[in-house]
Amino acid sequence: MNRIPSTSLLPTPSGSLKISRLSPTGQAVSDRSIYFSLIIPTYNESQSIKDLIDRLSNLLDESTPDAYELIVVDDNSPDKTWKVAQALIADYPQLRVMCRKGERGLSTAVIRGWQAGRGEVLGVIDGDLQHPPEVLLKLLAAINGGADLAVASRHVEGGGISDWGFIRRFLSRGAQLLGLIVLPRVVGRVSDPMSGYFLVRRNAIAEHTLNPLGYKILIEVLGRGSVRQIAEVGYVFQERQDGESKVTWKQYVEYLHHLLRLRLSQGRVGRFTQRIGFPIGRFIRFGVVGLSGLFVDMAVLYLLHDPSTLGLGLTRSKIMAAEVAIINNFLWNDAWTFSDLAGQQRGKRQRLKRLLKFNIVCLMGLILNVLLLNLLFNKLHVHYLVANLIAIAAVTLWNFWINLKLNWRVTQVK
Ligand code: GDD
Ligand code: MN
Repeated sequence: MNRIPSTSLLPTPSGSLKISRLSPTGQAVSDRSIYFSLIIPTYNESQSIKDLIDRLSNLLDESTPDAYELIVVDDNSPDKTWKVAQALIADYPQLRVMCRKGERGLSTAVIRGWQAGRGEVLGVIDGDLQHPPEVLLKLLAAINGGADLAVASRHVEGGGISDWGFIRRFLSRGAQLLGLIVLPRVVGRVSDPMSGYFLVRRNAIAEHTLNPLGYKILIEVLGRGSVRQIAEVGYVFQERQDGESKVTWKQYVEYLHHLLRLRLSQGRVGRFTQRIGFPIGRFIRFGVVGLSGLFVDMAVLYLLHDPSTLGLGLTRSKIMAAEVAIINNFLWNDAWTFSDLAGQQRGKRQRLKRLLKFNIVCLMGLILNVLLLNLLFNKLHVHYLVANLIAIAAVTLWNFWINLKLNWRVTQVK
């Protein structure tokens, strides 16, 4: 059956970043003919997109006729890459185009593309021709040969970089080294963990909720997927001909954050907290904020009470110091720890309400702290410092949980 391809844009999948398994009965027969879905994430690549689509189509029309699809996922680029791509559909019927408006970022773009993809094999290639299209055939051959993951690598036989300066090489290798230290069993499985040019079998990543950050989607696939056999194919990273790289210092910070997040989810604690559904990342942020509050409390107490400064009474000073610390903690928690939840309940009044509730929970926490300390010390004869430590830990957990469940996570009923 020869259908005329639709030139309308693909809808952007929403919800969690999970790729479903292909259900043999869940799809129309015409869709099941697609074997390979290749995602091309783009941001301001209008100059290279036509050339890239043309070269990819020529290659795949030979190797995988009619059984592939190319999916451009553009983040509403100012240079209208999506529009340029959309205009190409008439000439390249295997092409589909998505234009995202809300969500942004390279890694999530790739996952959204895979979610829309119909193939059993999923892949990604840069949109700027820095990844040579011809290597794709070797990657496909590796997958057909039984690999779950086939990675194009700059650091195996046949691989390289065209002409990078010392600083770029240093940064790239430094990032790899950092990954090897933080996540040796994930990052160490491939020679080029920074690669954004690879193919993966759908069933190796299906049904795992992915949670990537920034640029390095391969690390996420290795860290959360169930990849057994890996193949690597050498390639030379080409110099950019048009447009410019989107990498800034922000990507380095995000990379570090991404590594740590994966590390947490991999460890014994991470696996346990994931099983019982405890939001460990959030709890750590809450703890860090709590620590900042300790410093604020100390500093304000000093400023108010110390004879060399204001010299106010101790109780009065302590109450004010505690309140300033509470406000400090509230602001950070609202902007960081629970920012996603706070974003759903904007407005000054809502915010003020949260601050009041936060105060009440903290006050209750303080009472609980004193009670626990007394119980542990007087009844159970625990050393008072150890007892205090246990009480503080218990109260931090209490504060966190009550604030999460009854303060930030309240649904607004109109
Ligand atoms: N949709 C979308 N959204 N695409 C994006 C975004 C974004 O926020 N940011 C970047 N892209 C696209 C670019 O348009 C390009 O097609 C591709 O992602 C890679 O971005 P570049 O900015 O060109 O990255 P690079 O060449 O510096 O970095 C590359 O380094 C590796 C080698 O270490 C990575 O992108 C890897 O793919 C590559 O192998
Ligand atoms: Mn590039």
